[in-house]
Amino acid sequence: KPKPNLKVTFELDDGRELIGKACDGDTLLDVVLNNELDLDGFGACEGTLACSTCHLVFSQEDFDRIPNKITDEEMDMLDLAYGLTETSRLGCQIYITKEFDGLRVKVPPAVNDVRLR
Ligand code: FES
Repeated sequence: KPKPNLKVTFELDDGRELIGKACDGDTLLDVVLNNELDLDGFGACEGTLACSTCHLVFSQEDFDRIPNKITDEEMDMLDLAYGLTETSRLGCQIYITKEFDGLRVKVPPAVNDVRLR
């Protein structure tokens, strides 16, 4: 397995920053799990597009350069996410490549696990 050599910073609502290391091809969900980042409830459905707890907010610039566009399935889940923005994506659908080394993403203040409804 290659060494994780890419960096992602997760900005929390309370001002804290959590830093994760990623391998090329990891999803943002992988980064949270592999680095055991303290994000309560994040990634509840393990990347199967059945929750929305991996909701992240990107800068407009980063949002625009994400290569894979939002699918209908992702949109359906995003619609249920707490605090949805114009530049929201689901972290389990976003792949980190070297172009995204140093990425900063915002973690919304609350998660909404649709499976709990
Ligand atoms: Fe559940 Fe991404 S982890 S939709």
